[in-house]
Amino acid sequence: MSSWPTDSELIAIKEAVAKMSGRDTEEVRVVVAPYRICPLGAHIDHQGGAVSAMTINKGILLGFVPSGGTEVQLRSAQFDGEVCFRVDEIQHPIGLANKNGAPKETSIWGTYARGALYALQTSKKNIKQGVVGYISGSDGLDSSGLSSSAAVGVAYLLALENANELTVSPTENIELDRLIENGYLGLRNGILDQSAILLSSYGCLTYMDCKKLPSQKNSLKMQTMDHKLVQAPELEKPFRILLAFSGLKQALTTNPGYNLRVAECQEAAKVLLTAYGNSELEPTLCNVEHEVYEAHKHELETVLARRAEHYFSENMRVTKGLEAWASGNLEEFGKLISASGLSSIENYECGAEPLIQLYKILLKAPGVYGARFSGAGFRGCCVAFVDAEKAEEAASYVKNEYEKAQPEFAKKLSGGTPVLICEAGDSARVL
Ligand code: GLA
Repeated sequence: MSSWPTDSELIAIKEAVAKMSGRDTEEVRVVVAPYRICPLGAHIDHQGGAVSAMTINKGILLGFVPSGGTEVQLRSAQFDGEVCFRVDEIQHPIGLANKNGAPKETSIWGTYARGALYALQTSKKNIKQGVVGYISGSDGLDSSGLSSSAAVGVAYLLALENANELTVSPTENIELDRLIENGYLGLRNGILDQSAILLSSYGCLTYMDCKKLPSQKNSLKMQTMDHKLVQAPELEKPFRILLAFSGLKQALTTNPGYNLRVAECQEAAKVLLTAYGNSELEPTLCNVEHEVYEAHKHELETVLARRAEHYFSENMRVTKGLEAWASGNLEEFGKLISASGLSSIENYECGAEPLIQLYKILLKAPGVYGARFSGAGFRGCCVAFVDAEKAEEAASYVKNEYEKAQPEFAKKLSGGTPVLICEAGDSARVL
């Protein structure tokens, strides 16, 4: 069982909600929405590729009570102010460009609450009742590439659904969270993050085939996603998950790089599909057969060729990684993770310099099986699998080396958590 959340964390959240709402702590329900890591399958979810994921024992807690009316009233442990709106206010997409033009009180966390309402309204869910809620993220881990935004989005969805006595399947919630990110915010990301958060199970590697997605438009069609949970056999040595933070925290929604790469992948798919006489298919790399790619890749100009190479090689690493994991071969699993990291740097070209430095440092750290960027690579942290016995030693090695490589960014982390040793987590749920 996951070691998070602890009893004292739950008590603190319940007390905060009781104070806000005047209700008893026993009436307070809590959404647990863990952060995720993606050992293999970087940047291919939006192209319908196969990905792997796991949650960690850190994340978002959202304590709430049904408000008894249409009002939503929210406070946050990390952000100032109060977010208030009503569930009968119709929400409209705000898009990346005019995110700063969103209602004044709406900071990032308020934006996701409104986005959750938008998703539920768009999919015709009967939301009559709001919530009084208090949200808290594990210290210092927001905007870190651990998918805190998907965890926040999922948390608001689960709270609103629970308060309105709606039964919504994980698959449907994956789609609802996609509506928050793609539809409401305008980030053209895939479904890796929320799928990991909603489908993972403690001790397993979650495999997801993103090809079974409805098209990336605002379609409401739900499809069952092909996924499986892969248990590792009894391992010779236990492992830990190491998170090494860069100090770069710019939100993904404010970085044009992510959507630009998605567009480049689609451009590559278009060229390949046209070369093969299949231009009527949606320009997504999963619609291009591997053999077609091999036969026509020379027709791609350099940048598009790199993006396509990342997609096809990463899909293969996911397949091999699953086999390595299922047979308990952490050395091999780790090598594939590091190869994924290298491909993100060289082919997908999404790594910010401090993250590339962290990646290289992690590869030299004692006991590390493999490392890569945790999220998109534009900010946040790198993730590594490490031999549990050497985790402390590895953490202090990384901290010291990063201080030498990036003194300014390292300074921003001092007092916070430069390197964190984590364990696997469980899926999102309401307690
Ligand atoms: C972000 C996106 C995901 C995925 C990863 C990269 O976390 O939200 O959809 O593309 O980057 O693998």
